[in-house]
Amino acid sequence: MRRAIYPGSFDPVTNGHFDMIERSAKLVDELIIGVLNNSSKNSLFSVGERVSMLEELTCHLPNVTVDSFDGLLVDFAKRIDATIIIRGLRAVTDFEYELQIAQTNHEVYPDIETVFLTTRLEYAYISSTIVKEFASYGGDISHFVPQQFMGHIYAKYGY
Ligand code: PNS
Repeated sequence: MRRAIYPGSFDPVTNGHFDMIERSAKLVDELIIGVLNNSSKNSLFSVGERVSMLEELTCHLPNVTVDSFDGLLVDFAKRIDATIIIRGLRAVTDFEYELQIAQTNHEVYPDIETVFLTTRLEYAYISSTIVKEFASYGGDISHFVPQQFMGHIYAKYGY
């Protein structure tokens, strides 16, 4: 049984995340999307809102579930008995940071393996940060996020 976590902040979920989720779900038996509940970080969406959006987005994928976690990713992985972490690489700029985290996680939990998938070129420039920046000025985010969440995102900025 290959159980994997696709962790992230998902604040908000983007088309790039969704592509990663669909592709990862084909590689493993079970995929758990782990939403980081980081109370010290100023999130646009509450963890509950982020979990429900991801649940709505993935309801057609039978081997995908959504959960949230506090604290260290490796502790969450141990708790749910997952041995694979999936991360997306958009560009070389992601690599250094991701390598460091993957090596640290492997050092403290040798059973965990991090698998990197390269994002599709058409989504390589998308990040939740850019989405928020655009949306905060009322910019067009229709190419960046799932259509059904555009209204939720604009509403956070009073549009
Ligand atoms: O969507 P993000 O912000 O790129 O996701 C980053 C995330 C949630 C994967 C990362 O920050 C994380 O694993 N946080 C939990 C705390 C932790 O385990 N840190 C390990 C650093 S070595």
